[in-house]
Amino acid sequence: MDRPNNTPLVTLRNLHKQYGGGETVLKDINLAVNQGEFIGLIGPSGCGKSTLLKMIAGLTPVTGGILDIAGKTPSDARDRMSFIFQEATLLPWLTVHKNIQTTMRLHRVDKQECLRVADKMATLVGLENVKGFYPRQLSGGMQMRVSIARALSISPQILLLDEPFGALDEMTRDHLNEELLRIRSIEAWTAFFVTHSVSEAVFLSTEIIVLTANPGTIYKKIAVDFPYPRTAKTRESPEFQRLVGEVSHHLRSVDR
Ligand SMILES: Nc1ncnc2c1ncn2[C@@H]1O[C@H](COP(=O)(O)OP(=O)(O)OP(=O)(O)O)[C@@H](O)[C@H]1O
Ligand SMILES: [Mg+2]
Repeated sequence: MDRPNNTPLVTLRNLHKQYGGGETVLKDINLAVNQGEFIGLIGPSGCGKSTLLKMIAGLTPVTGGILDIAGKTPSDARDRMSFIFQEATLLPWLTVHKNIQTTMRLHRVDKQECLRVADKMATLVGLENVKGFYPRQLSGGMQMRVSIARALSISPQILLLDEPFGALDEMTRDHLNEELLRIRSIEAWTAFFVTHSVSEAVFLSTEIIVLTANPGTIYKKIAVDFPYPRTAKTRESPEFQRLVGEVSHHLRSVDR
């Protein structure tokens, strides 16, 4: 799925979604996403953000328009995608080390390789000292780190994140945001990140997409030009605060 720089990795053209014979959930979604971009998706509850991620992941069918992932359909591109949900969804009877391996096992990765990669991922997300712990022995933030390690274990080219830090307190969330960007600087996946937090979207994204509801359409695309690495200091800058204000304003306009 490697692409020349000027060819989008993911193309959505006049994308349309309806579940069964129901209401139109998403309408006329047009988006071209280059490799390495970090797309923040924000919009009112029920506007179709999770649906959009599920379509990209091939988990629910497209009902109109085009969704192209480097020349492939979502289901054909699925091998190189990982999904991170709001809940860490760990198996309680498995240790951290074993939980990290579950996705690799599903991908039939060789056992020795599973062990090696699980070690590497545990270190990458800062869990090297709790590899033998069970999920109940971890904080919410640590559980989410396991979920991230598990998702990254298959070296995804596209990472889909659906409010992954929504259940965490603000400090933990800020910290995990910084960690996510640090990991991104090493692993270089392309991300689609759903959030209800404007400052999280501004902190992480290269581009923010504001969606309307009923039907879900693209209201605004906002480029975020702050250079990476972004740090806690980035959040304190007046430019950052200004952009948070601007995105919040757009969000208020669609949330009526
Ligand atoms: N499997 C499904 N079958 C039928 N309708 C669905 C299904 N999944 C979602 N919907 C409908 O599609 C619309 C968009 O739902 P979706 O979960 O994508 O919204 P969202 O933007 O992620 O909302 P939230 O911010 O609350 O998570 C809603 O009206 C929802 O009821
Ligand atoms: Mg959702």
